[in-house]
Amino acid sequence: MGGCFHELLLKLVLVSIVAGTVSVLGSSFGTNYSNNIRCIEKERQALLKFKQGLEDEGGSLSSWGSTEDCCISWKGVRCSNSTGHVVMLDLHSEETCLGYTQRRFAPQACILSGEMNNALLELKYLNYLDLSFRYFNNTNFLELITSFSNLRYLNLSYGGLSGTIPSQFGNLSNLISLDLRGNTDLEAKNLDWLSHLPSLRHLDMDGVNLSKAVDWLQVVNMLPSLQHLSLRECGLSTVTPPPTLFNINSSASLSFLDLSDNQITSMIFPSLLRHANSLVFLDLSFNDLRGSFPHHTLEKAISLVHLDLSYNHLERIVPKSLENFQSLQVLNLSSNNLSGEVLIDFAKLPSLKELRLSNNHLNGNLPLSVGKLSKLEVLDVSSNSLDGTITQAHLLNFSLLKELDFSYNSFSLNFSSAWVPTFQLDTLKLSSCKVSGSKFPQWLQTQKKPRHLDISNASISDTIPNWFWDMSYKLRYVNLSYNQINGMVPDLSSRFVGVRR
Ligand SMILES: *[C@@H]1O[C@H](CO)[C@@H](O)[C@H](O)[C@H]1NC(C)=O
Ligand SMILES: *[C@@H]1O[C@H](CO)[C@@H](O)[C@H](O)[C@H]1NC(C)=O
Ligand SMILES: *[C@@H]1O[C@H](CO)[C@@H](O)[C@H](O)[C@H]1NC(C)=O
Ligand SMILES: *[C@@H]1O[C@H](CO)[C@@H](O)[C@H](O)[C@H]1NC(C)=O
Ligand SMILES: *[C@@H]1O[C@H](CO)[C@@H](O)[C@H](O)[C@H]1NC(C)=O
Ligand SMILES: *[C@@H]1O[C@H](CO)[C@@H](O)[C@H](O)[C@H]1NC(C)=O
Ligand SMILES: *[C@@H]1O[C@H](CO)[C@@H](O)[C@H](O)[C@H]1NC(C)=O
Ligand SMILES: *[C@@H]1O[C@H](CO)[C@@H](O)[C@H](O)[C@H]1NC(C)=O
Ligand SMILES: *[C@@H]1O[C@H](CO)[C@@H](O)[C@H](O)[C@H]1NC(C)=O
Ligand SMILES: *[C@@H]1O[C@H](CO)[C@@H](O)[C@H](O)[C@H]1NC(C)=O
Ligand SMILES: *[C@@H]1O[C@H](CO)[C@@H](O)[C@H](O)[C@H]1NC(C)=O
Ligand SMILES: *[C@@H]1O[C@H](CO)[C@@H](O)[C@H](O)[C@H]1NC(C)=O
Repeated sequence: MGGCFHELLLKLVLVSIVAGTVSVLGSSFGTNYSNNIRCIEKERQALLKFKQGLEDEGGSLSSWGSTEDCCISWKGVRCSNSTGHVVMLDLHSEETCLGYTQRRFAPQACILSGEMNNALLELKYLNYLDLSFRYFNNTNFLELITSFSNLRYLNLSYGGLSGTIPSQFGNLSNLISLDLRGNTDLEAKNLDWLSHLPSLRHLDMDGVNLSKAVDWLQVVNMLPSLQHLSLRECGLSTVTPPPTLFNINSSASLSFLDLSDNQITSMIFPSLLRHANSLVFLDLSFNDLRGSFPHHTLEKAISLVHLDLSYNHLERIVPKSLENFQSLQVLNLSSNNLSGEVLIDFAKLPSLKELRLSNNHLNGNLPLSVGKLSKLEVLDVSSNSLDGTITQAHLLNFSLLKELDFSYNSFSLNFSSAWVPTFQLDTLKLSSCKVSGSKFPQWLQTQKKPRHLDISNASISDTIPNWFWDMSYKLRYVNLSYNQINGMVPDLSSRFVGVRR
């Protein structure tokens, strides 16, 4: 105990001598010594040299150099409380790359931050480095980064990186979190370096070109600590993985898996099976899944909250494989090739908030059990071949519903004219449905804030009631075409950009 104390004291004194100050042993020493740690001079100089090489947009680093002690008020700099070494550098830029959208990465247009000065390598104890949205033009930038061998957190997302990820990345063997997303000109020829990062829990490489990294599945399957894996739009394909792979009980803790927007085939299923116990989030949308979704694949995925298999070519999903998901909140099976009746027993999915089955070939009735989904906010079954009558009973429990899309099916709606739904919709689409009695739906009058309304081709043969024109103030989009609507339409030109009658 005493020995430790003396060692600490010695370090502090040494530090203070190096830093050229003697104010270290302040009165609060012992109770809050973090106040008294002085920045290590060599590291201070390194930071200042680094700053000189930066195009400091908006003076975000003006605090650097304002005080002697880089550990106290330099923006984005944190020092170790025990050694005084700079351990954390968070220089993420507030300026974002232009043109980035959710699903498609636009060609990067990040603002050049400058050239990274080699002096920064003086920060040998750095364990946290965030340079996201900063673009450095050093030719060997990525190799330089791998010199920070103590890094546990590295964020180079949206950094305008290009070229090939060097194999030296395997030297960053302490990494827990690595974020390279949004660097669309970056590629990896293989992911062998990843297998040298056994502590990795969080990996995000969305948009990085991995089309040549055919070993990706093999490598990520063997990362023992991986919890979060996001490889969206990476040009991934599935090649037959070696069968022995599935005997290894690694990355059993994977809970977040986003492999959307790739060319992944159904050969991925056995791999999913291995992770089923821990999966919470699974997004395989925009891939090349075909045939049947094997029913045992997610049988054990009792923690699943988000399941997105939309935009594939799946033909069959065994209803049983979707049951017992007590926690499932999002189910998206849109834009597949599903046919037959909807046989899912929705009573087994009590947490469901968003259900999308649109753009398939489903037929038959919408099961009444959908009415059990009292937490539902989005119900989209549009563009199928569903038929039958939708009654108030279907919608009775939907007090949280925001978006309802029954379009492009052959539904008949039978709602009483006095119906007062328990929900307030944002979006209602009933195109090609048959409304009750060919009357303009009176219940719409109960909706306080709809923004998007499509009741085109809905067999309406009626006059539009006056209250509708008052309500239409709030609407952003209305489509009433292909109906037999008669009577006066007030001048709406001041309310809508385009009016067609
Ligand atoms: C130590 O000092 C820092 C900086 O003044 C302060 O933010 C922090 O709350 C203090 N911690 C303790 C444990 O007193
Ligand atoms: C140093 O101690 C302060 C106060 O206890 C704490 O807020 C801060 O996170 C610590 N810094 C590091 C790098 O551990
Ligand atoms: C990086 O950009 C700076 C100007 O912003 C320029 O002076 C320097 O030569 C460039 N370095 C490289 C390696 O292109
Ligand atoms: C990396 O930085 C980006 C942008 O600043 C941020 O959105 C993202 O959450 C960070 N990644 C991790 C893993 O913290
Ligand atoms: C870093 O990686 C290179 C190439 O993979 C290797 O030669 C070198 O020894 C590694 N350095 C350390 C410190 O591990
Ligand atoms: C990915 O890299 C390969 C060559 O390695 C190239 O042919 C392909 O066009 C790249 N894909 C994208 C989306 O840039
Ligand atoms: C692998 O996991 C299964 C089920 O979780 C378990 O029964 C088995 O003993 C594990 N095998 C090894 C080698 O750990
Ligand atoms: C969809 O399924 C039908 C058979 O039900 C098949 O003929 C067709 O080729 C499939 N389309 C795609 C894109 O998979
Ligand atoms: C699938 O539906 C969910 C829930 O509405 C939504 O968040 C997600 O973006 C959809 N997926 C695609 C690919 O549009
Ligand atoms: C609505 O919820 C109640 C209570 O949970 C339930 O008894 C009833 O069956 C539900 N209605 C429908 C149409 O499922
Ligand atoms: C509509 O529902 C009412 C009872 O709610 C029923 O009497 C009537 O027959 C139904 N109409 C059609 C066309 O199904
Ligand atoms: C209108 O709906 C009917 C089915 O009710 C459908 O056959 C027809 O194609 C639809 N017309 C338009 C213009 O959408």
